Amino acid sequence: MKRITILLAALLAAAVPTEARKAKKFVHETVEIPSVEPQVIAVETENTQLLLGVLGNRQVVIRHYGQPVANPSQFLEFNGVAAEAYPAAGGTFMGEPALHVKYADGTHNTELRYVGHKVESASGVAKTTIQMKDYVTGLQVNLIYEAYRKENVISAHTEILNPGKKAVGLENYASALMRLEGDDFLLTHFHGGWAYEMQTSREMLDFGTKVIESRRGTQATQTENPSFMVSLGKEFSETSGAVVAGALAWSGNFRIAFERDETGRLNILGGISPFASAYPLAGGASFETPAMLWTYSAEGAGGASRNLHRWARNYGIYGGGAVNPTLLNSWEGAYFTFNTSTLTGMIDDAAAMGLEMFVLDDGWFGEKYPRNSDRTSLGDWEPNTSKIPEGIDYLASYAHERGLKFGIWIEPEMVSGVSVLAETHPEWVVQSPGRQLYEARWQWVLDLSNPDVQDFVFGIFDRTMQLAPGIDYIKWDCNRPIYSFGSTYLGNEQDRFYVEYVQGLYSVMRRIREKYPKVLVQCCSSGGARVDYGAMKYCNEFWTSDNTDAISRVRIQYATSMIYPACAMASHVSAVPNHQSGNITPLKMRFDMAAAGRLGMELQPKNLTPEERALADRCIKSYRGFRDVVFGGDLYRLTDPYDSDYYAFMYVSEDKSKAVVFAFCLRYQNRATGGHPFALQGLDPSRSYKVTEQNVDSSCWWGNGKSFTGDFLMSGSAFNPVLHQTNASAIFVLEG
Ligand code: DGJ
Repeated sequence: MKRITILLAALLAAAVPTEARKAKKFVHETVEIPSVEPQVIAVETENTQLLLGVLGNRQVVIRHYGQPVANPSQFLEFNGVAAEAYPAAGGTFMGEPALHVKYADGTHNTELRYVGHKVESASGVAKTTIQMKDYVTGLQVNLIYEAYRKENVISAHTEILNPGKKAVGLENYASALMRLEGDDFLLTHFHGGWAYEMQTSREMLDFGTKVIESRRGTQATQTENPSFMVSLGKEFSETSGAVVAGALAWSGNFRIAFERDETGRLNILGGISPFASAYPLAGGASFETPAMLWTYSAEGAGGASRNLHRWARNYGIYGGGAVNPTLLNSWEGAYFTFNTSTLTGMIDDAAAMGLEMFVLDDGWFGEKYPRNSDRTSLGDWEPNTSKIPEGIDYLASYAHERGLKFGIWIEPEMVSGVSVLAETHPEWVVQSPGRQLYEARWQWVLDLSNPDVQDFVFGIFDRTMQLAPGIDYIKWDCNRPIYSFGSTYLGNEQDRFYVEYVQGLYSVMRRIREKYPKVLVQCCSSGGARVDYGAMKYCNEFWTSDNTDAISRVRIQYATSMIYPACAMASHVSAVPNHQSGNITPLKMRFDMAAAGRLGMELQPKNLTPEERALADRCIKSYRGFRDVVFGGDLYRLTDPYDSDYYAFMYVSEDKSKAVVFAFCLRYQNRATGGHPFALQGLDPSRSYKVTEQNVDSSCWWGNGKSFTGDFLMSGSAFNPVLHQTNASAIFVLEG
């Protein structure tokens, strides 16, 4: 039904001759949008609530996110400023759009209005789908909110459907918007670079828009992780303050905008970066945006992290929460220089030390161009028979016979300039016609937007799995970002490149998981350049950083723990002076830091002294006794390494019967301080815990070996280990 609005320019009329006046009548036709009864849609978890309001004019707005209110329908009469849940460019909207569409006729306006909604519940998860459409063009958008009840996480994404015949251009297509009410917002986000990933940055958000983003294509999390925490108020601590945390599940270019609008409120908009990616959506086609994860906690950063960790263990990480094996990785111990006996020697030593897996890293492949340095051979994934004449199956069964699992490294998205693959398929390289192919680490990126390349990359994984029966673990590396972006396959639709690269990667990963559901996969990208919940859906763990220095790892692992759980955080003990930083730290500190995640070693065991070997054996044995709590427990950060010379944190099992406390002295200056007191957290106050320091003959805490109640240990005075030296460290196991 159409209503005709007639506007007469009466004042001008007098000046216009009668004939012309008739012709210039301004007739503007608008599509009528029938009004609807206002309602409130509640998306709820145990301790959080997102309330969406449907207004009479069918706009869907965010009314509330945070602490649950008992009777949400009270918001029906609320007259506060409304923020649309998924604002589209057009109409009266002038802020950061979640959706911006360019139509075939060149127009840019979209006004999404409510059509209907449904709620589907499965065990522990309620899925709310709100259908919306633009009444003029018919463009449809489904807002999808999945509420994970026990984990207090809400995953939000959209489906955009073009029901028309002509293609439209998606200029912006964010996953979700969150609107927060308040006067002050303190943002914590995580920036960095190679070997110093996940550095914590804190800033008050002022009026205007603060953006965190990546345009690196592949190594998307190397400069900034697609995650953050923001306070509802001036401050938050580990244990107090209202905090909202968010993370985008996408392994490519992303953009998260924090817009404090003219009302002072905060709109957080997260999704795929629109940079060079105005995505063409064909008539009849649909586009699904990646999930934006949200959690809220009234108990500060600690509560928000625990929510995300529980969600990750139960839903977000492939095989999440299961204990993964300790391992010896060949990289820092051998680099490219090895032969069969180097590797069998490492396997023997790994078995003798009580490790559970051997991982053969880079350097095992390339026949025509043997991979003896990082300058050649990527793409040529046949084993190098001059280095390992006995073959990979010999090494794998050598490990298996000694009770170890066997893993192997690949970097399937890449091709070296010097390789048979580059000679045979130059068109598969990411490139822009006529422009230089910039190398990084002497390699180029393969164009995963091309289905042939996807098949090839799947084939690399598949063939590597066939190199030996029972390969248990694949380390998937990705050592450079994308330069001169472009695809020979996509022709004049280059706008699809960045998005379809990541979709291609996920499609390969899905095929891998269908065929190899049990193999453990480590997501590595020069260390932590692909630490995100998009990739982790397919991977059991991530390589947190190439920086294995325990001192550097303090900050890297601290920030990683804000968003990602310990069960996925690979952490290795390496040689000193550290190969990345040159620092010399005690072996005990290196073990204590690595034991905070999935412990591994990455050195030549033959270079350890007998005393170091004895300590290593002891540390590995004790880790195997408490790692169930590291993998499956709740994390409590006791101090902040940015503010304190003493860094401590602990994991507590879900039933609170067991805990592990880690404590480090990062800088010691004052011999008069006595032991440093830590207030433990998360224990059962009335339960009695026996406290045992690990891997020492003489404990640094007076209460070692005795039992104490949880309230005593949490008092803040009683637990005061004496860490009287820079880089001193201790691990305590509490059993109740
Ligand atoms: C980068 C990774 O992060 C390292 O662990 C190692 O696998 C090298 N690549 C091998 O080239």
